[in-house]
Amino acid sequence: MEAVITLLPGDGIGPDVTASARQVLDAVAKQYGHTLHYKEALIGGAAIDATGEPLPAVTVDACKAADAVLLGAVGGPKWSDPNDKVRPEQGLLKLRSVLGVYANMRPVRIYPELAGASPLRAEILDGVDMLVIRELTGGIYFGAKTRTATSASDLCEYTVGEVERIVRVAARLATERRGRLCSVDKANILETSRLWRDVTNRVMADEFPEIELETLLVDAAAMHLLSRPSDFDVIVTENMFGDILTDEASMLAGSLGMLPSASLGDGSAGLYEPIHGSAPDIAGMGIANPCGAIASVAMMLRHSLGLESEALAVEQAMAAAIAAGARTADIVAEGDTRLSTDDMTARIIACLA
Ligand code: IPM
Ligand code: MG
Repeated sequence: MEAVITLLPGDGIGPDVTASARQVLDAVAKQYGHTLHYKEALIGGAAIDATGEPLPAVTVDACKAADAVLLGAVGGPKWSDPNDKVRPEQGLLKLRSVLGVYANMRPVRIYPELAGASPLRAEILDGVDMLVIRELTGGIYFGAKTRTATSASDLCEYTVGEVERIVRVAARLATERRGRLCSVDKANILETSRLWRDVTNRVMADEFPEIELETLLVDAAAMHLLSRPSDFDVIVTENMFGDILTDEASMLAGSLGMLPSASLGDGSAGLYEPIHGSAPDIAGMGIANPCGAIASVAMMLRHSLGLESEALAVEQAMAAAIAAGARTADIVAEGDTRLSTDDMTARIIACLA
């Protein structure tokens, strides 16, 4: 098959990890006889420096024309004054919004060999395999913002339709997994959460009665994620709660650098990005963990390109490389060799064959 992929390396370690992920995509495409066409475009701080805007129109066009978009990361100290009118993060938010990718899938998978890299005890991690579905184009991220000399406000708004569609995505995925869905809200306090809970209860009762539904308040969910993480199958939650809970959940996997994500709308085109940020402290050092980006291209192969065997091949190669002891600095244990981004990538590609 042939596909068009738009690459948005972005800032910090973004260019390092997208280059790794592209190498893996090229290797798997060659192995299975596919032709991938790449187009590179600017986003974030790199785009601000070059054009004055965090998401130039040519970038939007390139993303809309592609079968899938692979993004590295945005942001960095150079553009980090929170009062700046133009900020790298605006580019990412606008991109998610214009592509309509409201469903952000963040699987949390544990490699048994990395149990020691997590701050949690190994027995708590046993059996952890969860998928967090984060609503990505609504809520407080996108509501009106105000600022005066003495006050500020951020509006959090959700419509019934926005909640229905994300709950359906999560419930369908739960059907293909262990049949359990946990919806996370703050319905004791927030009106948007009360709407979220009502809609979730109705959709689940009417359309997915076979799915076991659990509801948790977000503060309790943050605790249960650490005390009984293996109980969770699919979690569905609003934009900001999903942002926070998935950084927390990454510690189950040992490093923020391990987690991939896929963002989809109603069609098959999608936006793929590791959940980590631009990591300015290690940018340009060639030591970033490429696993989050590489696992993201596995999700791209599966969800946007319809290539399940190829997706599994990438995931198995990562698992094999890790089982054989390949480690970047963020997941090393005492005595392990710290691999560079390039060497880690080469170890994974070697396991593809
Ligand atoms: C993420 C990131 C982004 C978010 C930032 C960079 C805007 O933290 O993808 O989780 O908050 O969504
Ligand atoms: Mg985040």
